[in-house]
Amino acid sequence: MPLPDRNRRIVLAAVPVGLPLESDFLLEEAALPTCPTGGLLVRSVWISVDPYLRGRITGRRSYVDPILTGSVMESGAVGEVIESRHPAIGVGAFVTGMWGWQDYAAVEAEKVLRLDPAEAPIQTALGVLGMPGMTAYFGLTELCAPKAGETVLVSGAAGAVGSAVGQIAKILGCKVVGTTGTDSKVQYIRSLGFDGALNYRTDQPYPEALARLCPNGIDCYFDNVGGELTDAAMTLMNFRGRVAVCGQISQYNDRSKDVGQRPFTEILVKQLRVEGFIVTRWAARFPEGRKQMATWWKEGRLRNEETITDGLENAPKAFIGLFRGENTGKALVRL
Ligand SMILES: NC(=O)c1ccc[n+]([C@@H]2O[C@H](COP(=O)([O-])OP(=O)(O)OC[C@H]3O[C@@H](n4cnc5c(N)ncnc54)[C@H](OP(=O)(O)O)[C@@H]3O)[C@@H](O)[C@H]2O)c1
Repeated sequence: MPLPDRNRRIVLAAVPVGLPLESDFLLEEAALPTCPTGGLLVRSVWISVDPYLRGRITGRRSYVDPILTGSVMESGAVGEVIESRHPAIGVGAFVTGMWGWQDYAAVEAEKVLRLDPAEAPIQTALGVLGMPGMTAYFGLTELCAPKAGETVLVSGAAGAVGSAVGQIAKILGCKVVGTTGTDSKVQYIRSLGFDGALNYRTDQPYPEALARLCPNGIDCYFDNVGGELTDAAMTLMNFRGRVAVCGQISQYNDRSKDVGQRPFTEILVKQLRVEGFIVTRWAARFPEGRKQMATWWKEGRLRNEETITDGLENAPKAFIGLFRGENTGKALVRL
């Protein structure tokens, strides 16, 4: 099949203020990149939209460099090799890498991971068997280290990371409570085996609602959300509880100066361990994490939901939808 001569890609047009707008992104056309020496030319099949991208489009450096205006939105992607100058990866192979929101990309072979479509659907490399799955697995097992019988609370529980956290905690024999934003998502996480679920939009005040769901207190809190929900969770932590600070999505678009409560007395008197993390800290152990998650997934003990948006041009809409709770499970864009 002849190669196309144009490449569609989505670039950052403006640094968003508050909730990103579709006009902060621009769909543009460029020449098809050429296959590098020793590398690959890849056609995107799936691209990922993730909340952490909000932190990459602030114009400031965080734990990585920002995506600058005029640059392609860099994110996880899965694609098919359409031209290869690498001896071990042929045309037709499926790979995942970080080339982002574009139809085609020239990539170095060392920067991609080869996928086996017979092992699992290729898009799981962006979800339960990819970065969000690794976040759930290592964040929970390494930082919360839950023991059987303990109570684990996870916020953002119907999303890619949170749904995996809750299911892993169930596999480990814990009592699991999740928080999410709609009654249908409450039903969803209950269907995954969560013991309790709170709709944070309707079940208030939070301290009382959480206390009802966690009558023995909270031993482990896996926080994806932050804000008032986390203020309430901190007051219910048990002695020597562990808090894994994974995300603070309620704060990503918030421009107010609300400082909330000060949890340090709680941390002191209950001798809590509260630790933030970026999943790449365990990059060297991702093969181990993928193996365990794939085993649980094949055994049917770990289920994954996907919310699919079609068309590269709709990636900004899918991304913004994350902050409106439009996804259940992993949000993906299919090209
Ligand atoms: N530390 C790391 O290395 C790392 C890696 C990956 C992800 N993360 C973080 O983990 C969290 C989950 O990521 P994900 O990829 O699994 O996304 P996700 O949960 O699949 O999608 C985002 C969800 O967040 C919820 N949400 C949006 N705005 C909210 C708000 N103001 N208050 C409460 N909930 C809100 C929505 O669900 P509801 O309908 O329930 O509101 C939405 O569906 C994010 O905070 C992300 O930044 C951290």
